[in-house]
Amino acid sequence: MALLSRELGIDLGTMYIRVVEGSRLAYEEPNVAAIVVDEQKLVAWGKEAQDMYGKVPPSIEVTRPLQNGVIADYEITEKILSNLIRKLTRPARFFGPKVMITVPYGVTSVESRAVHEAVLQAGSGEAYLIQQPLAAAIGVDLPIGTPSGNMIVCLGGGATQAAVLAMYGIVAAETMRAGGMSLDEAIVTYVRKKYGLIIGQLTAEQVKLKIGAAIPQEEEQSIEIQGQDQVNGLPRPATITTGEAVEAMSEPLHDIVEVTRRVLEKTPPELISDIIDRGIALTGGGALLPGMDKFMTKELGVPAYLVDNPTTCVAEGALKGLKMYALLRRNLPPV
Ligand SMILES: Nc1ncnc2c1ncn2[C@@H]1O[C@H](COP(=O)(O)OP(=O)(O)OP(=O)(O)O)[C@@H](O)[C@H]1O
Ligand SMILES: [Mg+2]
Repeated sequence: MALLSRELGIDLGTMYIRVVEGSRLAYEEPNVAAIVVDEQKLVAWGKEAQDMYGKVPPSIEVTRPLQNGVIADYEITEKILSNLIRKLTRPARFFGPKVMITVPYGVTSVESRAVHEAVLQAGSGEAYLIQQPLAAAIGVDLPIGTPSGNMIVCLGGGATQAAVLAMYGIVAAETMRAGGMSLDEAIVTYVRKKYGLIIGQLTAEQVKLKIGAAIPQEEEQSIEIQGQDQVNGLPRPATITTGEAVEAMSEPLHDIVEVTRRVLEKTPPELISDIIDRGIALTGGGALLPGMDKFMTKELGVPAYLVDNPTTCVAEGALKGLKMYALLRRNLPPV
């Protein structure tokens, strides 16, 4: 019997790690680590580590090993990937799995080599890198193998990437090192200024997820939050409405439009008409913000639409990318 090596597509994100094997999402957990500060030892990772956030003694630190899409803590990233690969490929096999893993568009060669090295050290047999927007486009089945324009925007937690693709490669793209977390920060600032209340980022994210939107909604919703009075430090509630959340997030939302606009401006005119016909595919968790498609369409004057698999398309595309390696090879990040 031939020893078939397993194949994994890994989306190494700032907020989530997602792994696809076969046609199955095999893993999806927050990219969070709990470490013993003194020994730099990993005590928990994924959801288990995230649940410890804000509830640990000083000897333990709960951190995100990626910041704005790139590795900030190499050793922890490698430990997480190695636990992950072991967990997914148990029982142990002779050969490590063949992996295609994502890096943001435009990272430095040092940054991409760090990801490549980490996934090899973590026990993969063969490792290949792919730019996130390219993987996302493959994952949503855009016809990127044709000489026609396809545009995608990845609205991640830590980064926003806009790209135009044709003939299996990226024609024009840009990465902004800000994403969904900036929307949360904008809500924190808004609540402090308007209500004199200090709230944490997790609370701000809940506001965004429960009642947030990119444009005013017909049905206005509201949520009660608990904050800390800026002056006397005592807990105090406040009610935030959808309209307020839209206002709070307006600036970072417009930054997202601007990155997309810059990429459209850099796109060769021959490709623009295809993009206008086909629309801009919105992916990433941020694409789920109600009204995001309408907001982008209105601001850019080009139709934008939410894809069917916004959060899993990157890992799905990475796995498909392994099978299309011969076609993609020349356009992948060098390592
Ligand atoms: N329904 C929703 N409405 C608005 N935002 C959402 C929704 N669901 C998830 N998000 C946001 O999407 C972001 C996470 O997106 P995603 O999982 O694509 O990020 P990531 O891949 O880990 O990060 P990156 O690609 O930047 O490295 C978070 O900021 C989260 O708050
Ligand atoms: Mg992502």
